[in-house]
Amino acid sequence: MSNIIQDDKRIIIFDTTLRDGEQSPGASMNTAEKIQIAQQLQKLNVDIIEAGFAAASPGDFDAISQICQAVDTSRVCSLARALDNDIKQAGLSVQKAKFNRIHTFIATSPIHMEYKLKMTPDQVIKKAVHAVQYAKTFVDDVEFSLEDAGRSELSFMKEITEAVINAGASTINLPDTVGYRLPHEITYMVEQMVAFVGNRAVISLHNHNDLGLGTANTLAGIVAGARQVECTINGLGERAGNAAMEEIVMALKTRQDIFEGYHTSINTKEIMRASKLVAAITGIEPQPNKAIVGKNAFAHESGIHQDGMLKNSETYEIINPADIGIEKNNSIVMGKHSGRAAFKDKLTNLGFDNISEDEINKSFEKFKLLCDKKKDIVDDDIIMLITDEKLSKNVQYELISLQVSDCSNGVPSAAVCIKFDGKEYTDAAIGDGTIDAIFKTIDRITGYNGNLNDYSVKAVSEGQDALAKVVCKVTFNEETNSILGHGLSIDTMLASAKAYISALNSYLSMKDLLKKGHIDNI
Ligand code: KIV
Ligand code: ZN
Repeated sequence: MSNIIQDDKRIIIFDTTLRDGEQSPGASMNTAEKIQIAQQLQKLNVDIIEAGFAAASPGDFDAISQICQAVDTSRVCSLARALDNDIKQAGLSVQKAKFNRIHTFIATSPIHMEYKLKMTPDQVIKKAVHAVQYAKTFVDDVEFSLEDAGRSELSFMKEITEAVINAGASTINLPDTVGYRLPHEITYMVEQMVAFVGNRAVISLHNHNDLGLGTANTLAGIVAGARQVECTINGLGERAGNAAMEEIVMALKTRQDIFEGYHTSINTKEIMRASKLVAAITGIEPQPNKAIVGKNAFAHESGIHQDGMLKNSETYEIINPADIGIEKNNSIVMGKHSGRAAFKDKLTNLGFDNISEDEINKSFEKFKLLCDKKKDIVDDDIIMLITDEKLSKNVQYELISLQVSDCSNGVPSAAVCIKFDGKEYTDAAIGDGTIDAIFKTIDRITGYNGNLNDYSVKAVSEGQDALAKVVCKVTFNEETNSILGHGLSIDTMLASAKAYISALNSYLSMKDLLKKGHIDNI
């Protein structure tokens, strides 16, 4: 990333899955999860990773600083409102990155200035200039966003842009914050702004998908001269989401007849892996018919299509699935006779090349246990096993065993054994249902009072013996922040207990950060 050659048609990919993507309802991630995604984004060869919004919470600050140490080729960026404290925390959070950036913003549309900010346009310019100047005291690379540019007046956009470029901003981002614009309108706005800015700054786009036009608008802006695009994996993001990275990148690659010479740094073979990882961690699956990464994106149902595919795949496929990392004939991968070496080899083939021997050993143990219960082990099972292993490190509470009663007598109950601080604790409780009994028992053992806000269970692969992935959201001790937990097991009850305990562990590590006074001390 440090040496982006600014050839005329190189499109800089700015990924905001960990910031705008995390703003999707239900997509909150903890630090370990964000690090895993950031490492995958780096494998994709993303130019800039917007790792979070440092001032939002101690957890966000911590995740950004840890990501800075976990990646070294992508630039790491924190978002900040045009406020001194936001900028200070953003600056400190990205301090340790090899390449860093602060992304600061203020709204520029009449409706936002009048009703949200209650500021005059002159006051907004003053604040923006101060924000950029202050950000420059922490980092060299400052991006400025004109929030709601899509509904802002061009003359004001030029005025504020002139001021922030003079203050030191080197990227000017023009978000269509509410996904309102149509492609030809984006083309006009970008043409005007590119002509005005010239080579003094890179013009960037950040399109939301409220009218389903996020990708189309981004492509229209590229042709008009935008050279950075902000996007997310699977199109995650606030409300209807952001323009999807996989769609933008594959449209440029597939339609070189139109986008001749336009290129990105993205290693497209990592797209599917990134999509699956983000879905596994957030619990938000792309819709089955989602372009590029949806389950059905390469499925051919009708006889006529299947016939065409057998004769020549290009009859119905415009993208070779291998180009986004879908390998043929690898669905059934391993079985109970596979050894550790084959398992390790499989992990490498699946793209997990930075895993420790300890992680391999532990996930291999889990793999062997799974082999006893499940007939066919597929790639998705292995991906989930290693992801689960990575996420379950450095935890305070660990589930040792679980027994649930037969509900037919009408009194669901659970007996749970949990390890804490080297000792094992066992207890039992009854509940309104089996899951309730499990969670109540965990509360009795740990002394925390959890309140379940959201619960979902999904099969990782096909068949009755599929691994179950449970995602739950819990608030503890009547606090307002909902904490996400994940659990994986062939048994749904076991996966539920693990998910609840994982939420508790995340809650405790968040509390630790607060206790350390992370924010006050910086
Ligand atoms: O949509 C938006 O305007 C944003 C900005 C903060 C860039 O996400
Ligand atoms: Zn946004």
